[in-house]
Amino acid sequence: MNDLPLVIANLKANKTWDDLSSWMNEIGPKADNFVGTVVMCPSYPFLAAAAVKIKSAGWKIKLGSQDLSKFEQGAYTGEVAAGQIADLVDYAIIGHSERRQNFGEDDYNLARKVQNAKGAGIEPIFCVGGAETIIVEGVEIVAYEPIFAIGTGKTDTPENAWNVSGEVKRKGRFTVIYGGSVSGENVGAFIKKDVLDGVLVGTNSLDPQNFIKILNSANY
Ligand code: PGA
Repeated sequence: MNDLPLVIANLKANKTWDDLSSWMNEIGPKADNFVGTVVMCPSYPFLAAAAVKIKSAGWKIKLGSQDLSKFEQGAYTGEVAAGQIADLVDYAIIGHSERRQNFGEDDYNLARKVQNAKGAGIEPIFCVGGAETIIVEGVEIVAYEPIFAIGTGKTDTPENAWNVSGEVKRKGRFTVIYGGSVSGENVGAFIKKDVLDGVLVGTNSLDPQNFIKILNSANY
């Protein structure tokens, strides 16, 4: 695993290339000074240009996709296969609740996605709604994201997030992060060495100033 804490910006279906480019100009230098690992997950069309921009600036920021296909490369119109983005991203978010809900993703298909990611050398960030959610074979990074806290401004309590993390960590050697209305104000209460290893941020990753506040407070 990379340096912890792990802070992931899940930008979802937001931002044009121009927006993303200015976001990176603000976050890139901050990521360089961050003790842990910063991962930016933009929409697929921007991954290649973002990778070039990061490389030319020499920023430490890592790239992740928000999903990938359950299929390998082939005749699957509209899909993006792990092998196609393997040289662009280090991570892929897999099994986000928005995909489980809106795109009917189930354990069988999520297992295929994880397998394809691992096969291509991409580290899956596997989202679960609780300690009872099945964690498919091959996963090393688990994001605990209770549905009620996603995009609602209402977080779980740090104590409960630590309990869920503990339950997950008892099942294997997992890195566990929390997601759900994380902000600059609350991030410091969640991250705890060896207990909770980072955060997955949606809403408050969109405005670079909000995301910088999170980076400033995301430490042990
Ligand atoms: P939120 O989203 O920060 O807007 O709650 C988190 C996520 O969906 O990963």
